[in-house]
Amino acid sequence: MRKAFVIGHPIAHSRSPMIHGHWLEVLAIDGCYERIDVAPGDLANFVRQFRERGFAGGNVTIPHKEATLVLADRLDEAAELIGAVNTLWLDDDLIHGGNTDAIGFSANLDAAAYQWRDAESALVLGAGGAARAVVHALVQAGIRDIRLVNRTVMRAQELADRFGAGISAHGWHEVAELSRDAALVVNTTSLGMHGDGGSLMDVALLPDHAIVTDIVYVPLRTPLLAEAAARGLRTVDGLGMLLHQAVPGFERWFGHRPVVTTALRDIVVADLERHG
Ligand code: ATR
Repeated sequence: MRKAFVIGHPIAHSRSPMIHGHWLEVLAIDGCYERIDVAPGDLANFVRQFRERGFAGGNVTIPHKEATLVLADRLDEAAELIGAVNTLWLDDDLIHGGNTDAIGFSANLDAAAYQWRDAESALVLGAGGAARAVVHALVQAGIRDIRLVNRTVMRAQELADRFGAGISAHGWHEVAELSRDAALVVNTTSLGMHGDGGSLMDVALLPDHAIVTDIVYVPLRTPLLAEAAARGLRTVDGLGMLLHQAVPGFERWFGHRPVVTTALRDIVVADLERHG
């Protein structure tokens, strides 16, 4: 039986077991996917010894994504660029660490609003860990004008420098000006609402063809998405990113490429409605 894990601390909230469990069931694979709480002090031992415990690999979540970088024998390009590992697998007896968040972000938009790839400019709200994966995906998609807006402008500047030309760093006071020709807006901050209780941005300023997406999926319909939809803009929620980022790991551990279906989405949505 093939075995995979998700490690984090705490880990009870993770929805990954639901996703991989569903795929194991529909594909009738003799395998299991276990949730394991690993304290920071135990991370190195866990990563070095999962093979001996019979695991083919697994997912890594908060707070271990950055620390796992130095524990893998090999990193894929995305993990290196994003600076975090979310997937581990074995190959040639080596422990490989990868990051599938950018793939998940792109696949979600491909499925829901494929025109996003034609966007000439993108406005990214936030410059934390999640924003790094989003910027990597936008650069990979060939979007040449990426504007990062963050409370701490220095952090946005560091992110811009990390990914090179075509990326600019801004403070929130510039968001109105930057909105006028933004073809794609991505919220990567955890803010449902911004600071003083006002909206994150004024969606009325966006062009009519703008696509608005949020990587937050609790709630599924964030205030930004609700405002954008009310304004008649195309919106994409963040749940698809969670589902799509899980695909490459499952394929590596269990040897079958799973499909993100409406049935899977419905299962996770029902769980979100029950537990938030
Ligand atoms: P994640 O890995 O989810 O991206 P993070 O690295 O802590 O988490 O980043 C959180 C993001 O939300 C950052 O862009 C942060 O802005 P700062 O870099 O200025 O801290 C943004 N954020 C969080 N709380 C905020 C707040 N109250 N007002 C404005 N921005 C906020």
